[in-house]
Amino acid sequence: MLIEALNIAHSFDYELYNSIDFNLKNNQSIAILGRSGSGKSTLLYNLSSFLKPSHGDIKLLNQDIYNISESDLIKLRRYNIGMIFQSHYLFKGMNGINNIDIARILSNTPQDKKLLEKLEIERVVSQKVSDLSGGQQQRVSIARVLNKQPNIIFADEPTGNLDKTTARLVMKVLLEYISSGERGLVLVTHDEEIANMCDKIYRLEDKKLNEIKISKFL
Ligand SMILES: Nc1ncnc2c1ncn2[C@@H]1O[C@H](COP(=O)(O)OP(=O)(O)OP(=O)(O)O)[C@@H](O)[C@H]1O
Ligand SMILES: [Mg+2]
Repeated sequence: MLIEALNIAHSFDYELYNSIDFNLKNNQSIAILGRSGSGKSTLLYNLSSFLKPSHGDIKLLNQDIYNISESDLIKLRRYNIGMIFQSHYLFKGMNGINNIDIARILSNTPQDKKLLEKLEIERVVSQKVSDLSGGQQQRVSIARVLNKQPNIIFADEPTGNLDKTTARLVMKVLLEYISSGERGLVLVTHDEEIANMCDKIYRLEDKKLNEIKISKFL
């Protein structure tokens, strides 16, 4: 199992959600929908080791992430976890390829030129990030994560800045990536069509994570 989360709750000023159980298996893609402010990004941070939940246990690749040593956690983040952030956190002064290289060198993976072609950014990655369009920056940040070859990809609205065609293309690349080996995807999105491309869909509402039947959208 890639993710096993049990009885997760989180509060900042008030309780966002409670009693959430969540599992992710190999080659599985799961989409999370929900209104703005419902706590989707927070849940993604809980699950991905960046924010300890107020309550509950989370195992990633059988490791209890909030009860392991700092060095084990660093290894897990470096080699096994890939986080595509809602705001990309690219180094704006560098070009795209340098941004991708920094992450992949840390995790010891070779450059993947095909990936750049698949994401249709091979011709723009030599430009400074601040000169790229929002959608191009978003795809550079996706390439940066995929080139690391992590087991679990967490993606917070990875298609938010993209037109329909490019959004589908990005989804195709992500789903193809997780279709083999010990890999899976957790995706937060506002786009029901994008969610529909995943194996399972949940909606975060009324403090709970409820599974939605895919057929509802068909
Ligand atoms: N670090 C923090 N400290 C205090 N409150 C926070 C913090 N992070 C998030 N919140 C609050 O928690 C709530 C949920 O935020 P979150 O970013 O998880 O929502 P979201 O579902 O991802 O929304 P969106 O769809 O707009 O991205 C918001 O009310 C937000 O203000
Ligand atoms: Mg969010």
